[in-house]
Amino acid sequence: MVKLNEIVKIYNPKKANEFEALHGVSAEIKDGEMVAVIGKSGAGKSTLLHILACIDSYEGGEYYIDDTLVKKLSEKKYAQIRNEKIGMVMQDFALVEDFSAIENVMIPLNFAKNKVKDKKTKALEALKAVGMEELAKKPCNKLSGGQKQRVAIARAIVNNPSMILADEPTGALDTKTSAEIMELFHELNERGRTVIIVTHDPNVAEQCDRIIEISDGYIVDN
Ligand SMILES: Nc1ncnc2c1ncn2[C@@H]1O[C@H](COP(=O)(O)OP(=O)(O)OP(=O)(O)O)[C@@H](O)[C@H]1O
Ligand SMILES: [Mg+2]
Repeated sequence: MVKLNEIVKIYNPKKANEFEALHGVSAEIKDGEMVAVIGKSGAGKSTLLHILACIDSYEGGEYYIDDTLVKKLSEKKYAQIRNEKIGMVMQDFALVEDFSAIENVMIPLNFAKNKVKDKKTKALEALKAVGMEELAKKPCNKLSGGQKQRVAIARAIVNNPSMILADEPTGALDTKTSAEIMELFHELNERGRTVIIVTHDPNVAEQCDRIIEISDGYIVDN
């Protein structure tokens, strides 16, 4: 379970361009839930997701993953939480374009001490789970948008995390490809992973168990 208690996020604190993006946001997401985060552009959706993914800090409140308070931890502890618990699919894929699909999926494994052969096996398993094993060696700059999104999902699940966070995973895709990607998230959720999806698409949001709506840095519906 993850729990946000009165989270305040301030970009550039104490500087002239200080900006409070979240004004005290509280929410609870249980293990195995599939949740959509919606709201207008600039509302704070990505900000919230980055805090949930432990890739950004926050200035006020508390964020708990299970019973761990995620605040001012050592870099090692953050890395451990990110590795074990969190798989993040960034807005616009964030793939290394001239790496092959498998090389991209292997990136999160490079921190572990496994043998290269074992890493390749794990990366191939993740690519297989998203239906991309046959294109494993293809450079990402030669893949379609939907294929890139699959590689980004494979990279997010390669460490078998308990929680998958995705920022606009269908934003750049046509309706059919979007439906295929949503099918993948449903499968991952049915296999017990918590799934949190930021989306502008009402169709995507409706397929989730619950919708969290953010407006100007506040949760307005939960
Ligand atoms: N690094 C940053 N420095 C300063 N302000 C930022 C930074 N990142 C985001 N913001 C501001 O915080 C607010 C929330 O941004 P965020 O990216 O979370 O919005 P969003 O809901 O994800 O929008 P979109 O739907 O366009 O992706 C915006 O006003 C944005 O300008
Ligand atoms: Mg965003």
